Amino acid sequence: MTQSLTLRRPDDWHLHLRDGAMLQGVLPETARHFGRAIIMPNLVPPVVTGAQAAAYRDRILAALPEGAAFEPLMTLYLTEDTDPADVRAAAESGLVKAVKLYPAGATTNSHSGVRNFDRVRGVLEVMAEIGLPMCVHGEVTTAEIDIFDREAVFIDTVLDPLRRATPGLRVVMEHITTEEGVAYARAGGPDLGATITTHHLIINRNHILVGGIKPHYYCLPVAKREKHRLALRAAATSGEGCFFLGTDSAPHVDALKEHACGCAGCFTATNTMSILAHVFEEEGALDRLEAFTSLNGPAFYRLPVNPGTIRLVKHETAHAYPSKIITEAGPVTVFDPGFPLFWGVA
Ligand code: NCD
Ligand code: ZN
Repeated sequence: MTQSLTLRRPDDWHLHLRDGAMLQGVLPETARHFGRAIIMPNLVPPVVTGAQAAAYRDRILAALPEGAAFEPLMTLYLTEDTDPADVRAAAESGLVKAVKLYPAGATTNSHSGVRNFDRVRGVLEVMAEIGLPMCVHGEVTTAEIDIFDREAVFIDTVLDPLRRATPGLRVVMEHITTEEGVAYARAGGPDLGATITTHHLIINRNHILVGGIKPHYYCLPVAKREKHRLALRAAATSGEGCFFLGTDSAPHVDALKEHACGCAGCFTATNTMSILAHVFEEEGALDRLEAFTSLNGPAFYRLPVNPGTIRLVKHETAHAYPSKIITEAGPVTVFDPGFPLFWGVA
């Protein structure tokens, strides 16, 4: 008998769509399954002002396939020069749903990020006052901290002091990758949430490095030890309201992934729902998939759940998906979970 599962239409609470030819090529992959997505602002140059976010939103809407019902939820890239009044206006108009904090140098296109947190105090205070969430890339960037420790050190030395200094600030820990991240999010109360990616539920650091270097598994924050992957799986499948899906689907053309200095990012927009159904079934938690993909995120962001539904079907034979998306910017390899997928979106 074919197994099937109907869910509220899911949302992606952390997505990179890029711009131009890449946007055109990858947007249909997300719009096919997801109702909304929090759109990351790390373009070159970054999306810093409300006016820039409005223009980027227009470009996304113009790139949507005919008939697609997809709503981009815009974010602003926090810099030390961000104007608190502009943030307030962009949020109060409904355009902007979050502000993104990148510690300077933490990841792709993050050099305009924050070095001195005293310089963003005014913005943080406005955000706390109006309830506008801050999405945090939670890694320190200091050269002497090992890359595998950067998330845990960030929580202790930056995130926790920042939250204590800014009562009422609502924070999303983006793409958590460690058991420390899981524990901190769980203990944080109603103003703290955490997104978990698709790929961090599948790969640990061995997948990147054993038997030859696998550039398509390299992303930031980098995948950690197996015990951390297991903590993430337990969190995602727990149903707890603080954990929700943020794929961090981050397309780069193959030429820049398969490179002497390869870009960070896994492209998972195409097969995320199939992979998640597989993971939740393995964990005996198919009944909690909807909370993770479709309910907990809107509750945190104080938005209604999507009106429609999607139906997942488990096929008898492996469900085919393209290995690459061909864009006019170049081919983009779709994340390979390393096992066949039987679940697909009907
Ligand atoms: C993202 C990108 O390519 O923009 N890369 C990644 O590995 N996740 C940036 C980010 O979210 O860190
Ligand atoms: Zn990201």
